[in-house]
Amino acid sequence: MLTIKESVAVITGGSGGIGKTLAEYWLKEGGKVVIADIQQEALQATAMELREISDQVTSIVTDVTKEEDCAALAHYAIEKFGAINMVAPFAGITGDGLMIKTDRQTGKVTGKMSLEQFQRVIDINLTGVFLTVRECVEQMINHDCKGLICLVSSTGSLGTAGQINYSSSKAAMAVMPKVLTAEFFRRNIADKIRCMAVAPGYVGTPMVKNIDEKVIGKIIEQVPIGRLIDPEEVISLVLELYRNEAMAGETVFIHGGLRLGSKG
Ligand SMILES: NC(=O)c1ccc[n+]([C@@H]2O[C@H](COP(=O)([O-])OP(=O)(O)OC[C@H]3O[C@@H](n4cnc5c(N)ncnc54)[C@H](O)[C@@H]3O)[C@@H](O)[C@H]2O)c1
Repeated sequence: MLTIKESVAVITGGSGGIGKTLAEYWLKEGGKVVIADIQQEALQATAMELREISDQVTSIVTDVTKEEDCAALAHYAIEKFGAINMVAPFAGITGDGLMIKTDRQTGKVTGKMSLEQFQRVIDINLTGVFLTVRECVEQMINHDCKGLICLVSSTGSLGTAGQINYSSSKAAMAVMPKVLTAEFFRRNIADKIRCMAVAPGYVGTPMVKNIDEKVIGKIIEQVPIGRLIDPEEVISLVLELYRNEAMAGETVFIHGGLRLGSKG
């Protein structure tokens, strides 16, 4: 079992939501944290707030779609804390819309999802994770660090209508732990660097709370436990995945029993 005390976590999307909650819990357990986010002001405010828990926190403005930013983030973590033990590439966005919109009366096409709307989500949720993980793992290997890459998939990975961009990116998150675990195994480092993904249902963060109240109400009607998942519940799972070295190469759902129907 790994211990969090003195371990270094690199968290993207760390200025709010699930990333911020991980930072809070990591610091409470005696760990060290680098939070990264594209929103400079929110990042600084979060770093100040987190310093009330522990001074072992630092931040760096990062756009995860930029190769040089991700390289700088990984180097910064090593420079500040000398190691990377946990990589949590949580930066993510939604950009919902039907791929093809049709008129209810005529049945004819009235609109299409733009390439920009599709690509933006893929750039952040998929390419951004690839770059963050690639750069951090390079540093982990070269500095002989032990730990976990913990990706965030989603129930959207099973196919949610109106989310062809988001669902595709989150399905990719569900396969990455298998790919990376196999690659680490081939290179005899799978006992040192593990990769897992958590796949939450609807979590009560700004990403979900910004959805129209009526829509949230309808979503909750479909959740057996009758409510949104708390960010703390997701992070409790993430911390267990870090500690428990038998957990590798898998995606673990945490969705309160939600199942998607045939209309996604
Ligand atoms: N909230 C949910 O219901 C839910 C469910 C399943 C999975 N997830 C996933 O969990 C992760 C965190 O979601 P959240 O709910 O905390 O969302 P959130 O919107 O609260 O936080 C996401 C953070 O990512 C940052 N970000 C966006 N683009 C960025 C970029 N290019 N570079 C760096 N940072 C960027 C944002 O500034 C924001 O702080 C996401 O990957 C999301 O897809 C969320």
